[in-house]
Amino acid sequence: MVSRVVDRQTDMIGNTDLLKIQSLSKISGSDIYVKCEYQNPGGSIKDRAALQLVKDAIDSGELQPGMSIVEGTAGNTGIGLAVVAKSLGYDLLVVMPNDQTPEKTKMIELHGARLKAVPPVPFKNREHFYHTARRIAEENDNFWWANQFENTSNMRAHYLHTGPEIWQQTEGNVDILVSVSGTGGTIGGNSRYLKEQNPNIEIWLADPDGSGSFEFLRSGEYKSAGGSMTEGIGIMRLVENFRQAKIDYALNLPDQDLVSIANFVREQDGIVLGSSSALNVAAAFFAALHREPGKTIVTFACDLGERSASKLYNPDYLQSRELSQIAEPIEKIMQRYKSDGNRILKVNREYWLD
Ligand SMILES: Cc1ncc(COP(=O)(O)O)c(C=O)c1O
Repeated sequence: MVSRVVDRQTDMIGNTDLLKIQSLSKISGSDIYVKCEYQNPGGSIKDRAALQLVKDAIDSGELQPGMSIVEGTAGNTGIGLAVVAKSLGYDLLVVMPNDQTPEKTKMIELHGARLKAVPPVPFKNREHFYHTARRIAEENDNFWWANQFENTSNMRAHYLHTGPEIWQQTEGNVDILVSVSGTGGTIGGNSRYLKEQNPNIEIWLADPDGSGSFEFLRSGEYKSAGGSMTEGIGIMRLVENFRQAKIDYALNLPDQDLVSIANFVREQDGIVLGSSSALNVAAAFFAALHREPGKTIVTFACDLGERSASKLYNPDYLQSRELSQIAEPIEKIMQRYKSDGNRILKVNREYWLD
C-alpha cells in the first residue's frame, strides 16, 4: 500500500493492515490474521462507524453546519466521533457510563469533546447513557443523535470499506471471519459483504460472559450469566446493526481465556491486544482448531491494550475479579479447545429476518 498524504484525520480512517499472528498460526496450522483497526486515528475500529454515521447524516441533511453531535457510548465510538467531529467542524457531546476505563474518558476530552458521565444502569432505566443521549437530541433541535445501535450507517462503514479491504487483502481467499459484537456494525457489514462475494465464508461471533447475544442466537431470548471485563461488546437486546448480521457459528469464551491468550500473543508476537481483540483472537484460534489446517482466518484487533491497561493487564484488577494473571499454558488451552467442540453453536437463522 502506498502511504498517504492527507488533509484531515478523517482521510486516515480505514485501509488498515492485515497482520498475521505468527505464534497461533504456527500452532494451529491455519493463517490467523488480525485487521489492525488500532491504526485508525482514534485508535479503534469505531472510527469507521463514526465517520460513516456523520457522513451519511451530512449527505441526508440531518446534520447541518453549526449543529452539535450527541452520542451515548462505552468509549471508542466517543473517541472516533471526537476525531471526526473536530476534523469536520462539529461540536460533540458524549454520554458515557462512569465505570469505563479512564484511558478512554481522557482521550475523548483531549480530542475536544464534552463528556457527560452517567451511572452504569440497566437499559430499561431512563438514566441509561443511550436514553440520555436520545433525550438530549429530542429536547434540543440543535443536536443530532448518531445512534450507533440502530443507525445502519454504522454497518455500512464495514460493508463499503472493511469487508472490501479484507476481500482484496486476502485476494478472495478468506475462509473464516471471526468478530465480537457491540452494536453489531462490524459483524453486520463485514458478514453481508463477504457472504455476497462467497457464501461459503464462515462467520463466527465471539461473545463474552455477561452478554446475551450467544443465548439469543441459541434460544431466541436475551439471557446472560456472569459478567466480563470487556468493554464495548456484548449486549442484552436485539439492535438493527446486529439483526442484519449473517452469522453461522457463535462461541462464548470466559475472561480467563482472554488473559491467557492476550499474554501469550504479547509474549510471543509482541502485540498488546485490547480485551475485545483478545476475545477475537481466542475465538479465531478456537475456530482454527475445529477446521482442517490451511485455512485463512481473519479477525480484528479492534483497539490496543493501552485502552485495557487498567483491567486486562492490571494484576490487582484481575485479582478483584478472581481471575488468575498466570496464563494457562498454550498446550493446555489447545487441548481444552480441541475437546470443547460443544461450545460451538451452529446458528439457526429462524430468530431474525433477512
Ligand atoms: C474495543 C471494541 N471492540 C469491539 C467493538 C464492537 O464493535 P461493533 O459495535 O461494530 O459491534 C467495540 C464497540 O464499541 C469496541 O469498543
